[in-house]
Amino acid sequence: MKNVEFAFENCLISSEKIVETAKKLLPEIENCVQATSKGYDDDKACINLPDDKGMLKKVKELVQEKKRLNPEYLVVVGIGGSNLGTVAVQEAVLGKLHNQLNPATKVLYADTVDTDYINSIVKLIEPALKKGRNVVINCISKSGTTTETAVNFEVLIDVVRKHKRDYKKCVVITSDKDSKLWKLGQKEGFDALEIPEKVGGRYSVLSPVGLFPLGLLGINIDELVAGAKSARDTCIGDDVERNPAAESASIQFQHFKQGVNVFDLFLFSNDLESVGKWNRQLVAESLGKELNRKGEKVNSGLTPTVSVGSTDLHSIAQLYLGGPFDKFTTFVSVKNDFSSLKVPKTGDYDELVAGIRGKSLKTVMDAILEGTKAAFRERVRPYSEIVLPDKSECSVGQFLQFKMLETIYMGYLLGVNSFGQPSVESYKKETRRILSQN
Ligand code: PA5
Repeated sequence: MKNVEFAFENCLISSEKIVETAKKLLPEIENCVQATSKGYDDDKACINLPDDKGMLKKVKELVQEKKRLNPEYLVVVGIGGSNLGTVAVQEAVLGKLHNQLNPATKVLYADTVDTDYINSIVKLIEPALKKGRNVVINCISKSGTTTETAVNFEVLIDVVRKHKRDYKKCVVITSDKDSKLWKLGQKEGFDALEIPEKVGGRYSVLSPVGLFPLGLLGINIDELVAGAKSARDTCIGDDVERNPAAESASIQFQHFKQGVNVFDLFLFSNDLESVGKWNRQLVAESLGKELNRKGEKVNSGLTPTVSVGSTDLHSIAQLYLGGPFDKFTTFVSVKNDFSSLKVPKTGDYDELVAGIRGKSLKTVMDAILEGTKAAFRERVRPYSEIVLPDKSECSVGQFLQFKMLETIYMGYLLGVNSFGQPSVESYKKETRRILSQN
C-alpha cells in the first residue's frame, strides 16, 4: 500500500513543542485504542467502521442487486454528513466531470431544497424514466427527520412512482434503525441499510451512508476501507512522533492558542475540492462548540476554509500572503495523477509564457505549488503539507480517516466534545416549528 505523506517542517512550531503537546494526547490515544475493541458501543464508533466485514458484505450485496437494474441515474438524497463524504470520494476518484464522461450510472445530489435545482434533477431523470430506464433513489438521513431530505425525497419519489409501477425496487433507505424514515421504508418495503447509532453524520462516510452510493458508482469500497483501516492503525499509535494525526493536531492547537483561527485546506487538485468541503463540516461541527466538556461556556472553535490550487491563488492569495497573521494552511497535493497531458512541444503559437513548451501540466502545477510555498516561507506564513500518492480509493480512504482522528484529537486538546451538534439541532427544531404553524 502506498502511504499518504506528511511534512511539518514549515509549520513554525519546533519539533520539541510538537512532541510535548502531542504527548498530552496519550490518554485520548489510549481511549481510541480501547474503543477499537468496543465495536459500535463507544462515541468513537466511527474508527471501527473499517473492521465491520458484515456491514461491508451487506452493502456489497445490495450494490450488486441494484447494479442489475442498470440504472441510468443514482440520486443521492441527503444533506450535510449524509452526502458530503460521498460527494468527496466520488469526485476525488471518478472526477468532477464524471457524469459528462458517459458512465454506466450518473450521479445527482439532492441536498438543499432549492426549487430550481431540484427541478433540474427532475428534468434529467424524467426522460430516462420515460425511456424505461431505472433511476435509483438512495435516501440518507441518520435522524430520519431532516426537513430538506424529507421534502426532496417526497418530490423525487413521486416522479419515479409516476413512471414505474415497480418503483419500490429502485429505492434504498439509509438511516438509524427505527427512525421515522426507517419505519416508513419498512412499511413500504424499500431496501434499507442501517447506520450504527453512535456513528454521527460527519463521521459516517465509511458506513453504508457513503459505501452504498459509492459502490453503486463503481468505486472500489474494499480499497477505500482498507486505506482507512491502515491510517486508523497509524493514527492511534502511541509513538506520537510517528502518529501524523497527533502531530498535526498538536501543531494546529499551538497556533490556535497563539491567536490563529482560520485553518485553510489548500488542495492543489480540482477533484479534491469536495474533500475540502467534507473536512470543513467535520472540523466546524466537531469543534465549534458553545460549551466545553465540563459544561462551561467557551464558544470555542476553529474556522475551517477550503481553497483550490491554483484557482484560488487568483482570488485569495493576496489575503493569505499580505493579510493578518491569523491563518494556518495545509497544502494537499497528489503525487501521481491519472492522466498526463502535455503542452505541445511545437505549436502554431508563439510561446505565450516562457518555459511551458513540452512540459506536462503536472510539472506546471508542481511549479505553481512550489512557488506558492516559497512565497509563504518568505512571508513567514506557517503551513504543513500532505501528499497523496494518487487519488485512488486507498489514498482517499487514508486521508479521510487521518482527518477524523486529527479532529478527535483537536477536540480533546480544546476540551470540547467532538461528537454531537446541538446548535445544528436547534435550527432544525425551529424550522419544523415554523413549518408546522403555517
Ligand atoms: O454531521 C451531522 O450530524 C449533520 O451535518 C447531519 O449529517 C445533517 O444535519 C443531516 O442530518 P440527517 O442525516 O439526520 O438527515
